[in-house]
Amino acid sequence: MPDTAADRSETGEASDVALFAEIPLTKQDILNCSYSNWYNKFNKHTLSRVEILKPIPKEFVDYLASDEFTLPKEAPHESSLFTKPRCNSDNEYSDWEDDELVETSNNSKRPDPTLKFNDFHNDVKRVFTEFKSVAPKLNWSAPQDSTWIMVNKTMQCHSPSDVYLLLKSSDYINHDLYHAFDGLDDQTPVEPSTFDYELVLREWVDVNPSMEFRCFVRDRQLIAISQRDLNYYDFLEEIQDQVLEKIAMFFDDVLLPKFDSNSFVFDVYIPKTIAKVFLIDINPFARKTDSLLFSWHELATLKVDDDDVKFRLVTKYNTGQFASKAHGQNHVPKDVLDASLDTAGMIELAQRWAKLLSSDGTTNLQDDDDDDDEDDTDEL
Ligand SMILES: Nc1ncnc2c1ncn2[C@@H]1O[C@H](COP(=O)(O)OP(=O)(O)O)[C@@H](O)[C@H]1O
Ligand SMILES: [Mg+2]
Repeated sequence: MPDTAADRSETGEASDVALFAEIPLTKQDILNCSYSNWYNKFNKHTLSRVEILKPIPKEFVDYLASDEFTLPKEAPHESSLFTKPRCNSDNEYSDWEDDELVETSNNSKRPDPTLKFNDFHNDVKRVFTEFKSVAPKLNWSAPQDSTWIMVNKTMQCHSPSDVYLLLKSSDYINHDLYHAFDGLDDQTPVEPSTFDYELVLREWVDVNPSMEFRCFVRDRQLIAISQRDLNYYDFLEEIQDQVLEKIAMFFDDVLLPKFDSNSFVFDVYIPKTIAKVFLIDINPFARKTDSLLFSWHELATLKVDDDDVKFRLVTKYNTGQFASKAHGQNHVPKDVLDASLDTAGMIELAQRWAKLLSSDGTTNLQDDDDDDDEDDTDEL
């Protein structure tokens, strides 16, 4: 049944966010969501072919964690970050040639990082002979927060260098390596022998983000579905019932019989023909999984009658709150992101910024030849 932001504010459902409902989560739940654990059961239902390189050698983990940004020397890579600028009439005043000399000599001094994980690097290269391009991830997370560093601003990787660059730049990948088991009540350390880090290389397919849905399962019952990309798509309302029916069938027939956790969150992609459901990922039923159009308190306490799944879509009435870009919180300082959402916030940020600069002894943001600083700020 359609469920809008307006409905929620009328019923007061979302107003009790101050309460903090307990959400039980075990190590086993997290392990069940590690890609290769569920892929073995549901590989017929993924969007494309997948190669899982496992275990990741320690040397590669160290390379991902290190601050050094050296990429493989061999193949030319597409990242604009490492593309040398070319002289043209716009920049001929510059001393590019000198810079290039320094850069080249510095680079050649650095050993090729792949020497330390040569076999693994060869495995990654081999995957690129099978798949033209890939969407990479580790056990739980994809580097969606570092797409800004790619030329095409997506996760599409055409070479091992692209993969390494994306992974090295991502906080989400850092989470998988060092924080995957944070926040559990059971604080006994996870034995390294219980699981291996893995690099998942999914053959790239162009995905229409409007047809991705996140589905919440609590105590083995499908309780809620949210669209995953939080833009407004007017056609979704029309096909909502069909989508719900497909997802419910997929859950009952495919997922439920074979997935062991009682509660979990699964992501699906449904092509516009609504003929098939593809499984994208399975995530822990836990606050660290983005609850999208629901709050975690709601998901933990929602009373759902059998077969009454709450299905939420972005309606045209609440698009404003999603004006920020997905994962944008990882691209810029949070203050700037918050401020971008309303005018008052932007004014406050500008005032704080001006104050910061002047107390620093540097130039005030206000125009030098205008003494009436405060009035100016109000007009920003
Ligand atoms: N094979 C693929 N080709 C292209 N994009 C993909 C592919 N598989 C997944 N994606 C995109 O990557 C996004 C993130 O993948 P996902 O496995 O859900 O990562 P995370 O768990 O970090 O959210 C998905 O929302 C989907 O848009
Ligand atoms: Mg996920």
